[in-house]
Amino acid sequence: MFTINDLRIPLLAAPMAGGPSTAALVAAAAQAGGLGMLAAGYKTVTAMANEIEVARELSCNRLGVNLFVPAAMPGSAGSSPAGGADRAARVAEYGHVLEAEAQRYAVTLPTPDPADTDGYTEKIAYLLRYPVPLVSFTFGLPQPEIVERLHDVGTHLTLTVTDAAEARAAVARGADSLCVQGPDAGGHRGTHAADRSPGRQSLTALLTELAQLTVLPLIAAGGVGSGADVRKLVAAGASAVQLGTLLLRTPESGAQQTHKDALASGEYTGTSVTRAFSGRAARGLTNRFIREHDGQAPAAYPEVNQLTRPLRAAAARAGDPDGLALWAGTGFRHSRAEPAQRVITELWRDAYPQQPAT
Ligand SMILES: Cc1cc2nc3c(=O)[nH]c(=O)nc-3n(C[C@H](O)[C@H](O)[C@H](O)COP(=O)(O)O)c2cc1C
Repeated sequence: MFTINDLRIPLLAAPMAGGPSTAALVAAAAQAGGLGMLAAGYKTVTAMANEIEVARELSCNRLGVNLFVPAAMPGSAGSSPAGGADRAARVAEYGHVLEAEAQRYAVTLPTPDPADTDGYTEKIAYLLRYPVPLVSFTFGLPQPEIVERLHDVGTHLTLTVTDAAEARAAVARGADSLCVQGPDAGGHRGTHAADRSPGRQSLTALLTELAQLTVLPLIAAGGVGSGADVRKLVAAGASAVQLGTLLLRTPESGAQQTHKDALASGEYTGTSVTRAFSGRAARGLTNRFIREHDGQAPAAYPEVNQLTRPLRAAAARAGDPDGLALWAGTGFRHSRAEPAQRVITELWRDAYPQQPAT
């Protein structure tokens, strides 16, 4: 079975759903000596399978695949206790608030479907039939039966955690490593219950605490932009470090050009954590949409994500960064429009200049 310690350079290209993660980015991470992750979220099983096959070929089968655990799945730790009519009413209320946005972008808002599982069962079935070296989960824990079956086919399981309680649950569930996501991370927080406020403990403090709690390898994620960041996280107990925002502007990243440009434009000077786009807490560049709607959305994922999808798609078509979810971590100023293999290799050299060149 693959282990994190097999990596020549313990750096991972983070799974980034919605376009940024591509087979080319995975291949670049593998060529640098690290590991690239594909993001299966928001994709059909067919799209996921096609991307895996291309990435397998380009990376000599050195890849991981990341899945969202749906809250609607019985037995997942992501299951939200909040539900029923009250939740539906709060989603409908936010839908009314978003009517002005729908008019601005000339789109119709859909009727949300809380039962949508993003093809989770079919994706797991594919990964059991055609195993990949590593599968990671976010937004909750996979059911024990899924853990057992993925282990049976030789897959390494990484479970995302954002605090010590989630880490204990992930260890008990049978994780082979933990992806420890700190508060500076770009994109969605992996917090198991969507309606909980994500932890604010610094990533180094969280790693130090978790290193006392488990011997499993810890993959640190969130806010990494420099070699000094990598060294600090390794010193705090990380076995590997995961890079998201730093890779968003690379040519291999499939992020929208509007998103890439916004990161570099200087027009956006900070990031915020908001539920406005999806109902789950996520960090992005503070743009008009966040300024106008932060605090209005209920903690209802996937419904809010479904509601804003046509708005985000229309903003993307119009090249309007102020209506897009410009996901980014606090280190966004470090993201560079240079080949991903170079960005990863240079980050490692910057962290450990004394080591022989790889
Ligand atoms: C655009 C974007 C999309 C993301 N999508 C996912 C995802 O699909 N699954 C996941 O586990 N994490 C996702 N994340 C979080 C990353 O895996 C990682 O934890 C985060 O990028 C680390 O913080 P950084 O961006 O500051 O490096 C996403 C992050 C970004 C920026």
